[in-house]
Amino acid sequence: MIKLRNVFHSYRDGTRMVSVLRGVDLTIRQGEWVAITGANGSGKSTLIRTCNGLLIPSEGTVNVAGLDLSDPQNREQVKQKVQIVFQNPDAQTVGTTPVEDVAFGLENRGIHREEMQVRIDNVLRKVRLEDKLFADVATLSGGQKQRLAIASCVALEPDCLIFDEATSMLDLVGRKEVYAIARSLWKAGTTVIWVTQRLQELLDADRILVLESGQITYDGNARTLFYDSDIPVRCNWEVPPVIKIGLWLRRQGVPLHTLPLLEEEVPDLVCKFVSQA
Ligand SMILES: Nc1ncnc2c1ncn2[C@@H]1O[C@H](COP(=O)(O)OP(=O)(O)O)[C@@H](O)[C@H]1O
Ligand SMILES: [Mg+2]
Repeated sequence: MIKLRNVFHSYRDGTRMVSVLRGVDLTIRQGEWVAITGANGSGKSTLIRTCNGLLIPSEGTVNVAGLDLSDPQNREQVKQKVQIVFQNPDAQTVGTTPVEDVAFGLENRGIHREEMQVRIDNVLRKVRLEDKLFADVATLSGGQKQRLAIASCVALEPDCLIFDEATSMLDLVGRKEVYAIARSLWKAGTTVIWVTQRLQELLDADRILVLESGQITYDGNARTLFYDSDIPVRCNWEVPPVIKIGLWLRRQGVPLHTLPLLEEEVPDLVCKFVSQA
């Protein structure tokens, strides 16, 4: 549903241009969960902003659901189809209560009153804020504010939701809640682009993109990324504990059919090692 072809982007820095995206080709299909990672400044936010027309790249084409974003007439429609949840929980709310916040986006799109009521109730239940409908937004935790930001996006019934390091300012509980809601929206059919620098949040993605200096240097699954590519070493990643265990077992010569990614896979492998020793 999202197609980028030969996308380049540069920002002006005083008198010089700084090249941030350098020849990105990318196709994201309807219903995919795609994780994007890369160091600070590698161009992740710039890349995802091109996907909903918030930013029109200096060169190349972006096409969403058949709509070419170089045509200004298509941009409003694409902004509805592809919604972004940003990093800062305090910078995304406009209403003083959750109900008002979700209503704001719906009013802007001219949704009828009765329909609005239904959607507001539904989305606030989906993000489990049904007991905070009329709470003062300022009293919500960071995680609750991010869930509200998700609800306001979901109310507009997008085909794709992009999370741009949406858990990076949250505590562990908030992170888990936001991640779980993103997973459940994906399971219900929404395309999700999950941008993160937390390697742990890559492990259950079937497709991971690594961005280095504005170029996609990896597009594939997690096992190949962590066990067979040179990226973790080259990018100096502190790999998750499960991967460290897998690498260690492999070094010990344990014949592993599959290398572990998830914690629940580890006990069986260790048993195999123990029974062999
Ligand atoms: N609006 C802007 N004007 C100028 N430079 C920018 C702007 N936004 C981002 N940059 C620069 O572009 C590079 C990539 O930024 P960004 O896409 O935000 O990367 P990431 O999200 O991976 O941290 C950085 O060097 C950043 O300083
Ligand atoms: Mg960013």
